[in-house]
Amino acid sequence: MDVKKSRRDFIKKSALIGAGISIAPGLAFANKKQEKKEKLKLGLIGVGLRGTNHLNNVLLRDDVTVTAICDIDEGRIAISLKAIEDKGFPKPKVFGKNDYDYKNLLDLKDVDAVIISTPWLWHARMAKNAMLAGKYTGIEVSAANTMEECWDLVNTHEKTGTHLMILENVNYRRDILAILNMVRQDVFGELVHFRCGYQHDLRFVKLNDGKTAYGKGVEFGKKGISESKWRTQHSVVRNADVYPTHGVGPIATMCDINRGNRFLSLTSNATKSIGLHNYIVKHGGKDHPNAKVKFKQGDVITSTIETALGETIIVTHDCNLPRPYSLGFRVQGSNGLWEVDGSRIYIEGQSEPHRWDSAEEWLKKYDHPLWQKYGEHATGAGHGGMDFFVINAFVESAKQNIAPPLDVYDAAAWSAITPLSELSIENNGEPQNFPDFTRGLWIKRKPYNWMKDTY
Ligand SMILES: NC(=O)c1ccc[n+]([C@@H]2O[C@H](COP(=O)([O-])OP(=O)(O)OC[C@H]3O[C@@H](n4cnc5c(N)ncnc54)[C@H](O)[C@@H]3O)[C@@H](O)[C@H]2O)c1
Repeated sequence: MDVKKSRRDFIKKSALIGAGISIAPGLAFANKKQEKKEKLKLGLIGVGLRGTNHLNNVLLRDDVTVTAICDIDEGRIAISLKAIEDKGFPKPKVFGKNDYDYKNLLDLKDVDAVIISTPWLWHARMAKNAMLAGKYTGIEVSAANTMEECWDLVNTHEKTGTHLMILENVNYRRDILAILNMVRQDVFGELVHFRCGYQHDLRFVKLNDGKTAYGKGVEFGKKGISESKWRTQHSVVRNADVYPTHGVGPIATMCDINRGNRFLSLTSNATKSIGLHNYIVKHGGKDHPNAKVKFKQGDVITSTIETALGETIIVTHDCNLPRPYSLGFRVQGSNGLWEVDGSRIYIEGQSEPHRWDSAEEWLKKYDHPLWQKYGEHATGAGHGGMDFFVINAFVESAKQNIAPPLDVYDAAAWSAITPLSELSIENNGEPQNFPDFTRGLWIKRKPYNWMKDTY
């Protein structure tokens, strides 16, 4: 089957079904007049590794025109222009003369929506400017670094009525959507406890061609490549969970955060920091200048969140020690639990007492309608297909100018874990309260209908 054609068929079908949905969940006052666009004019701000991944996915769609791109790295602009030309699309307007040239992209009339895939420190300021300019805004994870930035996103959305979607692709992972299906069908019973996190050995770096370069992570900042140009510096200066959303996003959706439930408080603790130093000494030698750098970030950071409905969520950040990748999910309720590590499920009355079932059969049985229908078309889109679904949700929501499935309140509540964990660690694990970004409306906001098969 022609993947490009079948994806297009899917997009056309989902657009038709989507057209029947006039009001999306969210705050009524935040919805502007609904106007369905046939084609979305898209600007991409930041076309590094992640931005070009998004670019390649939107180039497969016939309902998106990339009208502008912006990046301060000419090499990344060249890669993006070639990808656009190779697919036979017209050349977009190009920006990136300096750090603030993105504002000129935001002035363009022929940009309806933007996707921001820049380093973290740019996210909230660029998103704020984008919403002020009336552009439907997609923002990479994490959305904000400080509490002020979290509020900035919420306040700007409420002031302008412009929507923001946090592009958390893990929410669309096949096992996650199957487990969400089980949660919605009450298989786990009343929810009690969750575990999740970002447990990914990031001591190496990813090169321009997407390949992994072990040993190159010794250099960072000006001498770094891709993420090591900016990401490692956060480990030097912040003892915090700086990347919480891949883990907490899916869990927050399962327990209806900001929609009938909310994060109440958090405690965080950090271990000592030895991983990055040891790596530098091993691969660069003990006399390498970076061997003198004191890394502030603990190697393993553990946060426990309490929710208004009485659940706890343990969130782990573990990126600087040798380990295989795992987001460490566990979803536990009054009837049983799922654990991603070991891929196992136990449901009282259905599993043999005290024995795990392999999760495989359960995940098949509860496969989400989206994946059942369109899974084969999504494979190849990146990260096992989930990148296709997250971009599809963004494009469909933006074309209709409706609230997205993962909105500004999600972006703020999930990203707030970073500054709150930092404060808690600084104060020996003292509990920190989450602000209520919905200003009380979490009590009456309805959960997003994740079980529809459109996007
Ligand atoms: N959801 C996921 O699975 C996933 C995966 C990878 C990265 N990310 C996120 O995507 C974002 C980008 O990560 P990446 O791996 O592509 O990093 P990257 O360093 O490869 O790309 C960032 C790009 O932004 C550009 N940039 C920096 N400042 C700019 C400015 N002021 N104006 C315009 N362009 C600017 C850089 O030149 C670079 O090309 C990060 O927030 C990261 O956390 C998400």
